[in-house]
Amino acid sequence: MNHDAIGVFDSGLGGLTAVKALNEILPNENIIFFGDTARVPYGTRSRQTILRYTKEDIAFLRRHPVKMIIAACGTVSSMLGADSPVNDIPFTGVVYPAAKKAAEVTKNGKIGVIGTPATIKSGSYETALHNMDSKIDVTAMPCPLLVHLVEYGYTDKNNQITRLAAEEYLAPIRNAGVDTLIMGCTHYPIIREIIADIMGEDVTLLSAGEEAARYAKLCLEEQNLLNDSTEPGHNIYYVSDSVSSFRENAKNFLPDAAHGQVFSSRI
Ligand code: DGL
Repeated sequence: MNHDAIGVFDSGLGGLTAVKALNEILPNENIIFFGDTARVPYGTRSRQTILRYTKEDIAFLRRHPVKMIIAACGTVSSMLGADSPVNDIPFTGVVYPAAKKAAEVTKNGKIGVIGTPATIKSGSYETALHNMDSKIDVTAMPCPLLVHLVEYGYTDKNNQITRLAAEEYLAPIRNAGVDTLIMGCTHYPIIREIIADIMGEDVTLLSAGEEAARYAKLCLEEQNLLNDSTEPGHNIYYVSDSVSSFRENAKNFLPDAAHGQVFSSRI
């Protein structure tokens, strides 16, 4: 048993999709979240730059008592591949947990993946899926505008700009006849309703952040690191840019992040 927090990081708001799932799945756990909002987006940058930011994000979280780290970012997870950036505490990214779930739920063996340009270029989800089943047919599309639209708060299901962009990105995936779509960037579930509308109700949507949260629970259970407190856990949020814009954008999505303890911190 361990009362330390679970450390979660992302370039921005997207990592909150993992925090939200952790709060539901592990309500007694404390969470320390870091969103590198001053440097978002990561997904249009070089591998070298993303890995440098990753190192700094992890170093920031490790200044706090954390018992596990989740890279709640498809881009960071894709750059790391199978390498773990920490070896004394458990770590997970989002690629393996999301790919594992997709391989389990697909019935027709056709899986779509959407992610940032860096994620899609890396082929990380295809590699993970093909390691699980070489016959899976993968259609992957980079969606460079979606992170910006989410960070700017263009998230309402009736937002025509976001809908148009999503329609264009998703068309090849819809045409490929997938029955499962991995939202491989943790920002995308924030516009889940738009994506679901475009893909239709027969397509299962998987949130990479949510799958990582479920996987984290398994890791903590296995290593006997779960918090045995019966009190509700507490979230603390750190961002590298403005607290007020983080609160504003988080308000429709994770009220705790909008009204809870949020600090701006240099890393
Ligand atoms: N949430 C990040 C991801 O999952 C966004 C990446 C970015 O900052 O471009 O990829």
